[in-house]
Amino acid sequence: MNLNEIIRNRRATPPKFLAKKEVDKELILNLLENANWAPTHKNTEPWRFIVFQGESKQKLAQSIFALLEEKHTQGEEVNMQKAIRFRDNLIHVPVAMAIVLQRDAAERIPEWEEIAAVSMAVQNMWLSATDSGLGAFWATPPFLPHIQPLLNLKPGQKLLGFFFVGHVAMDYPSPGRGPVFEKIQWK
Ligand SMILES: Cc1cc2nc3c(=O)[nH]c(=O)nc-3n(C[C@H](O)[C@H](O)[C@H](O)COP(=O)(O)O)c2cc1C
Repeated sequence: MNLNEIIRNRRATPPKFLAKKEVDKELILNLLENANWAPTHKNTEPWRFIVFQGESKQKLAQSIFALLEEKHTQGEEVNMQKAIRFRDNLIHVPVAMAIVLQRDAAERIPEWEEIAAVSMAVQNMWLSATDSGLGAFWATPPFLPHIQPLLNLKPGQKLLGFFFVGHVAMDYPSPGRGPVFEKIQWK
């Protein structure tokens, strides 16, 4: 595929459309290497990833679910249907990476720019996944703030979601896009 094809063929592949088959470490490392080449204001390189597979991923799924159940029992607003779906997705997907934002100690850059840089790193991974025949999905469930303490994040770090990766079991149709000319003003 050339670059135009990779960009236009990239899909958000929902977890159940990913095969329950291991992904070679080389492939995962290549995604992460490309993530590391994203642009970044003042070279802060604010992207961090925690890669969960196998046993650690199963444990994470169970501990997240137990915590959400506890919060729910204590009367906090947690959508338990979403919690169940998230646990099952984590169990199903071969690779789940926590997407983490790392602010620099002096916070020289506004947070939105750092989030933009992390998002570009994620897009690099997503396009690389497409190029390698892998599917990927960025999951941002509403209870991310509850999950964050379970990840032992360092000071200045914030959880921006999970990136699921796996071989594509079934193609997921594109929702398509509205025409680009409606989003452009030529002056
Ligand atoms: C920052 C971000 C967060 C997202 N979070 C979710 C999510 O939590 N659940 C979901 O179904 N899709 C999520 N998506 C994926 C979008 O739903 C998907 O990209 C969109 O439907 C367009 O489909 P496509 O990427 O296959 O073209 C997210 C995408 C981005 C960029």
